[in-house]
Amino acid sequence: MRLMKKALLAGALAVLSVTTLSATLTPAHAADVKIGFVVKQPEEPWFQDEWKFADQAAREKGFTLVKIGAEDGEKLMSAIDNLGAQGAQGFIVCTPDVKLGPGIVAKAAANDLKVMTVDDRLVGADGKPLADVPHMGISATKIGETVGKAIVDEMKARGWKPEEVGAIRVSYDQLPTAVDRVEGAISVLKANGFAASNIFDAPQAKTDTEAALNAATVVLNKHADIKKWVAFGLNDEAVLGAVRASESVGIPAANMIGVGIGGADSAINEFKKPAATGFVGSVIISPKRHGYETALNMYSWIADGKEPEKLILTSGALAKRDDYQQVRKDLGIE
Ligand code: GLA
Repeated sequence: MRLMKKALLAGALAVLSVTTLSATLTPAHAADVKIGFVVKQPEEPWFQDEWKFADQAAREKGFTLVKIGAEDGEKLMSAIDNLGAQGAQGFIVCTPDVKLGPGIVAKAAANDLKVMTVDDRLVGADGKPLADVPHMGISATKIGETVGKAIVDEMKARGWKPEEVGAIRVSYDQLPTAVDRVEGAISVLKANGFAASNIFDAPQAKTDTEAALNAATVVLNKHADIKKWVAFGLNDEAVLGAVRASESVGIPAANMIGVGIGGADSAINEFKKPAATGFVGSVIISPKRHGYETALNMYSWIADGKEPEKLILTSGALAKRDDYQQVRKDLGIE
């Protein structure tokens, strides 16, 4: 009997210690939570803003945010190992290459890290999105259509006829959201009388302004007979590249209509210039939702076991030189 009691007690104690052990595996205090925020282009204002808002979430909740720039796959893989070694529990990532999807998921699992993506959605070997990985992106097609409409409205305001205008499609076709954005814009141009033969592809080698400038310059030089131009692309950097290219070949601002996507400092600095340039507008998207909300969602997943929604697509609002301050205020990013 006595022995039996002893055995029961030992068993109860064992259960007890297992419970305490598993409790320590899920951090009980915010201060024990460490979250990585890895981005593909840390120098781009959009990503700086995402980090700024993720920092705000970390301050409010009291967790630690580790910000890492990973411009290529190798850097990204070692960043994930590094987060694992530091005792992080999860990370949010905008990958330099969406095709790394399965590798990223495997690396995260090997390091016992939860993973969520932002901006650029991971794809599998078949090119289809990895639907199990929670993602927050922009409603790319719709935002592209907003760009197209802004261009068409400005063309009308300037009295341009579609047949005398060339369109620069600054492209980065290996990124699905980039394709959706430019195709959204093109659908509106075509619906308003633009001929497909007047739309020229300018593939950028990287998603920055310099690469876009180089790509757009090739198009402008090849079609020097066309005097009026419009431009659109993945983001503000892409369109700014096209606008800088137009300036460098002597096209005046009055003959250029570029509309970007983003609305971070790259666009705002352009609007602040004393004289209007060919960069007419930007569809402002929300770095607050993409930074603050993703960080909070990851925190709740780690601390409360609350899984984030699998797919959130955010919207955008067109802003121009004369109204960008108000649009930013309305979006809560002033
Ligand atoms: C991509 C682009 C960024 C930004 C985000 C928004 O990652 O490269 O510039 O537009 O999408 O989701």
